[in-house]
Amino acid sequence: MNVTVFGTGYVGLVQGAVLADVGHQVVCVDVDAAKVERLSKGEIPIYEPGLEPLVKENHAAGRLRFTTDAAEGVKHGQVQFIAVGTPPDEDGSADLKYVLAVAETIAQHMERDQVIINKSTVPVGTADKVRDKVDHVLEARGRKDLRFDVVSNPEFLKEGSAVGDCQRPDRIIIGTASRVSEDMLRELYAPFSRQQDKMIVMDVRSAELTKYAANCMLATKISFMNEMANLAERLGADIEKVRQGIGSDPRIGYHFIYPGVGYGGSCFPKDVQALIRTAGDIDFDAKVLKAVEARNEEQKTTLFQKIDKHYQGNLAGKTFAIWGLAFKPNTDDMREAPSRVLMEALWEAGAKVQAFDPEAMEEAQRIYGNRDDLSLCGTKEATLRGADALVIVTEWQSFRAPDFEQMKQQLAEPLIFDGRNMFEPKRMAVKGFTYYSVGR
Ligand code: UDX
Repeated sequence: MNVTVFGTGYVGLVQGAVLADVGHQVVCVDVDAAKVERLSKGEIPIYEPGLEPLVKENHAAGRLRFTTDAAEGVKHGQVQFIAVGTPPDEDGSADLKYVLAVAETIAQHMERDQVIINKSTVPVGTADKVRDKVDHVLEARGRKDLRFDVVSNPEFLKEGSAVGDCQRPDRIIIGTASRVSEDMLRELYAPFSRQQDKMIVMDVRSAELTKYAANCMLATKISFMNEMANLAERLGADIEKVRQGIGSDPRIGYHFIYPGVGYGGSCFPKDVQALIRTAGDIDFDAKVLKAVEARNEEQKTTLFQKIDKHYQGNLAGKTFAIWGLAFKPNTDDMREAPSRVLMEALWEAGAKVQAFDPEAMEEAQRIYGNRDDLSLCGTKEATLRGADALVIVTEWQSFRAPDFEQMKQQLAEPLIFDGRNMFEPKRMAVKGFTYYSVGR
């Protein structure tokens, strides 16, 4: 099938590459000429395991092309994916300007009936807005003879395992009332739905809400666990025991109940805020979601609070080694990362930071530039030299078994603040460390 994807961000690029890999002919369109040029040379602007070879191979095989030429893109595709960003605007609602701009572009150039598929995470009702926009432009062009359908087909991929998630989806949500669109998408996704039928077909609004409901449910689990962790700390319980105790109930499950430093990234914070906002627009008070967000904002400050309490507010002139800057492992993404809240609070208090992350060093440099109170170190060990204490923010695999003896020699005192419960408190005590973690 001939497929066009507008937007070569996380979602668009991964989706385009994965569709090309099963044999579809894919053209990816982006307005960013420099990005298109880099992609055409096989250079991937983001760090995502497995993505680079997939893009290179399919590009070399001629199944995956990149262009800035929207007209060529629209002409190519039997289906047109919209996979551009929906950044939060000032009041937290999703900004649809890029989505609607693509809709307009498609309408301007389409010369045959089209299925327009929305993959961007957009508020309920966006498909209607896209439809109105396309209608409007077709009318202005005098091409009301052209028919089109706007389908909602939300994406559930996780950063760090985006390729695998896309190749082996848990479900494929299709929001449309049109039999023609449904058949088209069944053909498009047939290679991913062979073992069992992954397609769940529903109306457009339900599909749009499904995406938000999924992310908000996961964010709720995390905020709930963070609340339990705060309680456990104050009640003398161990949240890790509690986690195992409740996770063993299949109705609860072990996934997404890890307490920590709060959720970050490009999805959860934005989507929770956007749904609160959508609810507000129709005068509905989304009480649970507001609490989820409030708990998360507070949770992002807990590491700092622990550090501040330990030093009784005297942080000026102290130096902290920080392990992990990305919002989670296996990504270089620092959007809404708890590490940023922590570092900014430490700087505000007059402390210095020596940081390391296996992938996010360039990103940290880009965000913070050169500042006297930040050293970006080449290895995790290098952060420890001359530091007063170690703070662990992201649970990278390579942080799990450090050389504790060497750590003791390099830190001013054996002191660790761990935002991800990487180690066992009793064993840390035996090793001679003062060890703070979450909910224990
Ligand atoms: C998420 C959804 O999982 C994905 O389905 C959706 O399409 C996009 O948003 P992503 O943002 O890539 O994906 O990251 P995810 O792995 O879900 O983690 C989100 C945040 O929650 C991270 O900050 C992580 O550290 C935190 N988290 C996750 C916890 O604090 N505890 C947990 O138990 C799980």
